[in-house]
Amino acid sequence: MSELPILIIGGAGKTGARVDALLRASGVPTRPVSRSTRVPFDWTRPETWPAALAGVSMAYVTYQPDLAADAIAEVSRLARENGLERVVLLSGRGEPGAQRAEAALQQSGVPWSIVRASWFDQNFSEGYLLDGVLAGEIALPAGAVPEPFIDADDIAEVVVAALTDRRHAGKVYEVTGPRALTFAQAVAEIAGAAGRPVTYRQITPEDFAAHMRPHAPAEVIELMLELFTVVLDGRNSDVAHGVEQALGRPARDFSDYARRTAATGVWRA
Ligand SMILES: NC(=O)c1ccc[n+]([C@@H]2O[C@H](COP(=O)([O-])OP(=O)(O)OC[C@H]3O[C@@H](n4cnc5c(N)ncnc54)[C@H](OP(=O)(O)O)[C@@H]3O)[C@@H](O)[C@H]2O)c1
Repeated sequence: MSELPILIIGGAGKTGARVDALLRASGVPTRPVSRSTRVPFDWTRPETWPAALAGVSMAYVTYQPDLAADAIAEVSRLARENGLERVVLLSGRGEPGAQRAEAALQQSGVPWSIVRASWFDQNFSEGYLLDGVLAGEIALPAGAVPEPFIDADDIAEVVVAALTDRRHAGKVYEVTGPRALTFAQAVAEIAGAAGRPVTYRQITPEDFAAHMRPHAPAEVIELMLELFTVVLDGRNSDVAHGVEQALGRPARDFSDYARRTAATGVWRA
């Protein structure tokens, strides 16, 4: 394998940090980047992209806040120009924007793998739902639609496999957990594992937007509303088998995530 580092865009994020840790543990040099790193990478500042992509062997690409085809096309073009061996893209299920971004990478001419993920378990412990768990109530317009939440540790292992074994080139791995749960069921599992009361409350999209307004910019609120009202309409409730296809073992269950995470103490008030 090349001595050049593997670029990790979103290197401190939920999956990026895990990919970084796994690669480093096996002696593979990495270059984790985001807005705050020494070599910066900012999706809103294309002038930061060429330096980050120079002198790397491969790239794991996670986008913020949600996949944009034009940006992925340009980063893929830079990757091809710099002779990267492979670009692994984190994508989302059932989102037209994500599918356009996947197509941009696939058409770029750089060797690729795509990991198309369901909702992360870790949104409840490392993301925007942690505050709700700590406050004892998660209020969302998510309805009773089941979602096969996935463990970010599984995503990271699939990504590392795709980066380190060329047999994964040209593959799209749709990765989910092994069973679908409603948000209410997921919250109940967390409450049980954490040993404290946490409830789920169904609210309207309008109430959700009003509650979020003081805390997030308008475009982020719009994006989250789309996730809850459009993407979470049942189209993504099916369990997919990308973890098993890539790694030869089943995906971790949500209860395993809840137990492990409760043991870290992150859900203690
Ligand atoms: N979360 C899910 O359930 C889920 C499910 C499927 C797919 N996805 C996709 O996964 C991607 C990331 O997921 P996530 O929301 O959970 O975030 P995340 O991977 O946890 O990433 C957060 C990181 O992004 C960096 N960041 C923020 N704005 C940035 C910018 N403008 N340019 C470069 N880096 C930036 C931040 O570092 P700095 O502050 O240092 O910049 C932060 O460390 C998204 O494309 C999302 O659609 C997420």
